[in-house]
Amino acid sequence: MKQRSLILTGATGFLGYSLIQELSPSFRIIAGIHVRQPRYPVSETVAVDLEGDLPDLDRLCAASTKAGSPPIILHAAAVSTVRECEENPILARTVNSDGTARLAAIAARYECPLFVISTDLVYGAGRPPFSESEAMATSVYSRSKLEAEVAAQSIHPASIVLRCALMIGPDTPSAPSHIRKMDRSIRQGTALHLFFDEFRTPVWTPDIARVVLRSIELGITGRIYNVGGPDRISRYDLGLRAARLLGWPPERLVPVSSDSVAQPGPRPKDCSLDISRLKVELGLDMTPVDAGLQMLARDWKRDV
Ligand SMILES: NC(=O)c1ccc[n+]([C@@H]2O[C@H](COP(=O)([O-])OP(=O)(O)OC[C@H]3O[C@@H](n4cnc5c(N)ncnc54)[C@H](OP(=O)(O)O)[C@@H]3O)[C@@H](O)[C@H]2O)c1
Repeated sequence: MKQRSLILTGATGFLGYSLIQELSPSFRIIAGIHVRQPRYPVSETVAVDLEGDLPDLDRLCAASTKAGSPPIILHAAAVSTVRECEENPILARTVNSDGTARLAAIAARYECPLFVISTDLVYGAGRPPFSESEAMATSVYSRSKLEAEVAAQSIHPASIVLRCALMIGPDTPSAPSHIRKMDRSIRQGTALHLFFDEFRTPVWTPDIARVVLRSIELGITGRIYNVGGPDRISRYDLGLRAARLLGWPPERLVPVSSDSVAQPGPRPKDCSLDISRLKVELGLDMTPVDAGLQMLARDWKRDV
């Protein structure tokens, strides 16, 4: 049977790789390309530059729809760091907010199911863990992502927003994971200064693909889901658990307060996610941090 097409923006990013690995068996993946080319197999590519109009994407959606099957669009591309967004707020808005709005207009025109990847950083003011109704952005990045969510759901009400937590996941050929960067520093003999007072509910990236798949299977539309893992953990504790499983000397991990380090933009100390909606409506159990780290450790041993 011919597979349905799924257009993935941000295909070359850290999350993009896991999404392609996990969703390729179910969909014909069309990678949205900005600058880099994916260094892994995809069925097709399409140019996507969120700073401008998206004529190639429009043509592709028009052709697929005419052939009887509008593609699913999974929008993971973004200016994705707080630092970059604080340094270039115009780019953040153009790409993250306005770019998502342009993409949503195309999705609406051709009735393509649209998933928008957002962030746990849209929370932070108030009392964690946060439910989906409690968003309040505080930085350029989180504002641009929240505006993207609102634009997507007002232009194309069927859009599904996935507010994802700090991601841990398999290494990608083009974007090293957060844990891999820590591993490299440790092996070079550098101490890691990790916040003991910044809490997150890290999500295992392949689980995000499972959320997409299950939402499609259940025919969900027009919903926002918090997509985090089951563990609320500080960045320092995450480091300690990684140290145990990946064989790092624990004395190289130094606990520090986030107040002691100058960082660009306001960062919430705790944006832990309440994932009960996801568990109840999608019936998914999310991967605990230790299980994710164990899978990483196994992959890394195999790669040596
Ligand atoms: N990583 C996390 O812990 C985390 C946590 C929560 C939410 N998120 C969200 O998850 C998504 C994926 O994050 P990530 O860590 O995979 O990001 P990433 O590794 O920084 O990748 C960003 C992707 O966006 C593409 N991109 C950047 N500017 C673009 C533009 N103007 N037009 C089209 N594509 C553009 C990049 O393509 P090029 O490389 O070719 O420019 C790249 O494929 C983002 O929406 C991010 O906000 C990430």
